[in-house]
Amino acid sequence: MTILAIETSCDETSAAVVKNYGAIARIRSNIVASQVKLHAKTGGVVPEVAAREHIRPIIPTIEGTLHHAKIRLMDIDVIAVTVGPGLHTALSVGLETAKALSYSLGLPLIPVNHLRGHIAANWNNRSPKLPALCLIVSGGHTELVLIDRHRHIKLLGATRDDAAGEAFDKVAQLLGLGYPGGPAISALAARGNPHAFDLPRPMLEHKNLDFSFSGLKTAVRYLVDKHPLLTKEGKPRQQRAGVVADTCASFQQAIVDVLVAKTMRAARQHRPKEVLLAGGVAANTELRRRLAGEVKKLAWKPSYRQPPPELCTDNAGMIGLAAAYFPHTTKQTVWKTLDIQPSLSI
Ligand SMILES: Nc1ncnc2c1ncn2[C@@H]1O[C@H](COP(=O)(O)OP(=O)(O)OP(=O)(O)O)[C@@H](O)[C@H]1O
Ligand SMILES: [Mg+2]
Repeated sequence: MTILAIETSCDETSAAVVKNYGAIARIRSNIVASQVKLHAKTGGVVPEVAAREHIRPIIPTIEGTLHHAKIRLMDIDVIAVTVGPGLHTALSVGLETAKALSYSLGLPLIPVNHLRGHIAANWNNRSPKLPALCLIVSGGHTELVLIDRHRHIKLLGATRDDAAGEAFDKVAQLLGLGYPGGPAISALAARGNPHAFDLPRPMLEHKNLDFSFSGLKTAVRYLVDKHPLLTKEGKPRQQRAGVVADTCASFQQAIVDVLVAKTMRAARQHRPKEVLLAGGVAANTELRRRLAGEVKKLAWKPSYRQPPPELCTDNAGMIGLAAAYFPHTTKQTVWKTLDIQPSLSI
């Protein structure tokens, strides 16, 4: 079965062709038109602007992905589209485009949960080993979930306030590093000392599997307010750069310590066959390295998976994979009955 997948939940316009062979599905082409440069000017995503900016590239992106996969529209069997969670107006552009295609071509639609897409990015060209434990860390979510043998998903823990990606973005803003913050912090952290500043590890000692990152962000704000070299104006550039790198490294270490410790706790409680990492923050080199290392130490030797960085951030390839790997939650439907679900949970 050939799936045309569409994703417009936030600030990436993306279309992909995914082949579903039954037990296994594979991305044939995956094109992402990013609005990141535009939103960098405002320091974050403005929903109305994001929606407007999806309209122009959506058809060229679909055309491009079909061309790249060397197929025509008439070769498509089904259309998969993100219905939530995400920005109301941004989601609408993708869904209305999918509906128009479904109506005119007489093709069924598959509504996809964006978060299941992040999970399924781990299974490109590879069948899942279940039960699987997944740490989802993205711009809007930080969740630990268990995917059982029937592919039902159980939420084990979640953030009580900011998501991990949100914390990266807010700390980057405090340090004047622009948007999105994750890649900038990650690059600077590689040059800094992770032990330079003693930042809190929120909820690390709590026995549950929940997270909290707003306190960590506030701790960085106090540091920025108090440290003579972190206040922006009139400081020697070289010295300031060193302290900013140390702040990034210390912050990243704190957040990774908590994410890895809680994932290991969940793993020991549920003994999954594989441990997965997913979402935009899964592109973080230090998180990837640390989690991979800790999973290797587990006694029952589960496998460890992380998507390649380009499949961690939003893309339609993962939406096509979710349509293939979560068939019971992504039932084919007709265009008339489908609507967006901006607050959809996992
Ligand atoms: N290398 C990195 N290190 C840390 N964070 C990163 C890195 N690359 C991207 N991020 C973060 O990932 C987030 C974007 O992830 P993603 O695109 O999945 O979020 P989203 O789709 O907006 O949110 P959600 O998936 O929860 O709806 C941003 O917060 C960004 O800063
Ligand atoms: Mg996302």
